[in-house]
Amino acid sequence: MSLWTRKSRIVITCAKGVPPFLKQEVLSLGFPTLSVGKAEVETEGTLEDTLKLNLLIRTGQRVLYLLESFSARTPDDLYKRISRIGWEDYIPEDSYFSVTSSVFNPTIKDSRFANVKCKDAVVDRIKEKRGRRPDTGSEKNKIVVHLYWRGNLCQVFFDTSGEPLSRRGYRMIPLKAPMQETLAAAVVLATGWRGNGNFINPMCGSGTLAIEAALIALERVPGLLRSNYGFMHLKGFDEFSWKTLRRKTRAEAKERLNRRIIATDISQQAVEAAKKNAMTAGVERLIEFGVCNFSETPVPDGGGVVILNPEYGERLGEVEELKKTYREIGDFFKKKCNGYSGYIFTGNLDLAKQVGLRTKRRIPFFNGPIECRLLEYDLYEGSKKSRDIH
Ligand SMILES: C[S@@+](CC[C@H](N)C(=O)[O-])C[C@H]1O[C@@H](n2cnc3c(N)ncnc32)[C@H](O)[C@@H]1O
Repeated sequence: MSLWTRKSRIVITCAKGVPPFLKQEVLSLGFPTLSVGKAEVETEGTLEDTLKLNLLIRTGQRVLYLLESFSARTPDDLYKRISRIGWEDYIPEDSYFSVTSSVFNPTIKDSRFANVKCKDAVVDRIKEKRGRRPDTGSEKNKIVVHLYWRGNLCQVFFDTSGEPLSRRGYRMIPLKAPMQETLAAAVVLATGWRGNGNFINPMCGSGTLAIEAALIALERVPGLLRSNYGFMHLKGFDEFSWKTLRRKTRAEAKERLNRRIIATDISQQAVEAAKKNAMTAGVERLIEFGVCNFSETPVPDGGGVVILNPEYGERLGEVEELKKTYREIGDFFKKKCNGYSGYIFTGNLDLAKQVGLRTKRRIPFFNGPIECRLLEYDLYEGSKKSRDIH
């Protein structure tokens, strides 16, 4: 059976906190979920299926297709088992590959050593079969082999994404403290917003939340903006079926929204960058940008989501300064956002207390190593007083 039609395990990695949203995505694409971990969701399918997963998944980072699983105790065991894999059937002539790894094995102090062992096994095998070494290096723009080694369990994957899926290809100008695209998509999905109501994003920075929201509401698949994935470099890649899939998903996307997306920031430079990013993503027509203090952001009637990702402050002075900002966000919610669901994404819960409103939900996320929360506030008229915390 060809590698492309052989069913195997597929592990989709993501940031911590994201698995519930990734699981939902995997299920809605018609794939089963075999397990849900702290930072991954496991499903199964063929290598052909990874085209669809890479193109359509919004919240995952990497789509790993399991090639072989075996037991290995020492680096020599690893080398022997990896050299038995028929790499010449998967890696074309004149190709290039890199190796990444997650290693938790007491015989390995430095995971780079496991990478080298794995790479040597692949190179030696191919050299023996073809008489020529394939090129290798650290670039992830061609074939990527991923090694997972915990205790004696060793799993060898193709990282079919190559570069992580957060690199959608629209954020040319990231600015300060941008949110990863895949995390921003999970945050928008967590709000439940799908184009039903307005989406108001003061403090938009480089525009990631607004852009992901626009892509979600249009049902435009996130992977269309990218032209290079790891799977494309494997032997037997069917370019025709990839193009057909892209064409089909493109044709299914909506053109317009009947609700408003408004994104503002106090920094002119941030708004310029966000506009450019939105243009690259092809959604600039749908987002109304403005330069202003967050409290001046227009909040039209009709309800929806208003979401802010303020800074969390790393130094004490900054935190003191930010207390005022968080208090003012509470005032903005109370005074201007009636009829909306309010959200704050922050990594500092002490600061969040300054908002002075009772949270309805507190959804855990991680922004890199920082534990964060997406805090939800009901901002409906009439019940405001009962939720104010004095
Ligand atoms: C953490 S960043 C937002 C990052 C954004 N989510 C992204 O993905 O790029 C916070 C943003 O808030 C903006 N900001 C800070 N104080 C503000 C204020 N008073 N009014 C409006 N924007 C403000 C900053 O210019 C910065 O762009």
